[in-house]
Amino acid sequence: MNILHICADPNPTEESTSKQLAVSFFRTLSERNPDVDITNVDLYENPPPYLDYQAIRGFWFPVFIAGHQPTDDEQLAGAYGIEQGEIFNASDIVVLTVPMWNFSVPAILKAWMDQVLSPNVTFTMDKNGTSPLHKVKKLILLVASGEVLKEDDARDALTPLITHSFALAGIKDISIAWADGQYTFKYTDAETRKAMAMEAAEELAEEVVDELAGRT
Ligand SMILES: Cc1cc2nc3c(=O)[nH]c(=O)nc-3n(C[C@H](O)[C@H](O)[C@H](O)COP(=O)(O)O)c2cc1C
Repeated sequence: MNILHICADPNPTEESTSKQLAVSFFRTLSERNPDVDITNVDLYENPPPYLDYQAIRGFWFPVFIAGHQPTDDEQLAGAYGIEQGEIFNASDIVVLTVPMWNFSVPAILKAWMDQVLSPNVTFTMDKNGTSPLHKVKKLILLVASGEVLKEDDARDALTPLITHSFALAGIKDISIAWADGQYTFKYTDAETRKAMAMEAAEELAEEVVDELAGRT
C-alpha cells in the first residue's frame, strides 16, 4: 500500500501541533509494521508554483477544445502538477498535515491542489462529470487550529474546501483528527485537546492497518 503524506506546515515539529499529529499517525503505523510505502512531500521544501496562464491552458484547454494538445510551454508550466499527480495517482491513501490559517488551508496547499487536482492530471472531466485517474481510496486530514472549532462550525472554510475539491476528483472517504483550541494564551486545556487529537490520529492509523489486513 502506498501512502502519500503532504505536509503544509512550515514550523519545526516541536512547534507544530499538526506535525505532532502526523508523528502520532506515522509512529503508530510503523509500530504495527504494515506493508506500506510512505512518500513524504514537504511543500515548504518542494513548493508548488502558482497556476499560471500556460499551466491552465495545458490542463484545462483539452476539456474545452477537443484535440487540444498541450504545447511544450504548457507542459513545462504544468510540470510540477504532472510530477506530483503521478505520485498521487499511485497512492492508496493521502494524508494532509494542515494548520488552519484564516479559517482555511495555507496558500501553499491551495497552490498544490490547484496543480494536482487538475483535469488530465488526477481525473478526466466531461459533460457527464469527472472520472478518477488515481486509485486513492481514503484521505486523512490532520488539522490544528488556534480557536475552538471543528468541521461543523460555520467559521470552518477548511474542511468544505478539502471535501468538495477532493470529492470532485472522486475521493469521498475523508477521516479527520483535529486539535483545536491550540491558542495556549487563551485555552488552558490546549494540551489536553492536543493529546486527544493525537490519540485520534493513532486510531486512524490503527484503522488503516486493520483495513490493510482486511479486518474491517
Ligand atoms: C497565518 C495564521 C493564520 C491563522 N488563522 C487562524 C484561524 O483563522 N483560525 C484559527 O483557529 N487559528 C488560526 N491560526 C492559529 C493556528 O491555526 C494554530 O496556531 C495552529 O496550532 C497551527 O497549526 P500548527 O501548530 O501545526 O502550526 C492562524 C495562525 C497563523 C500563523
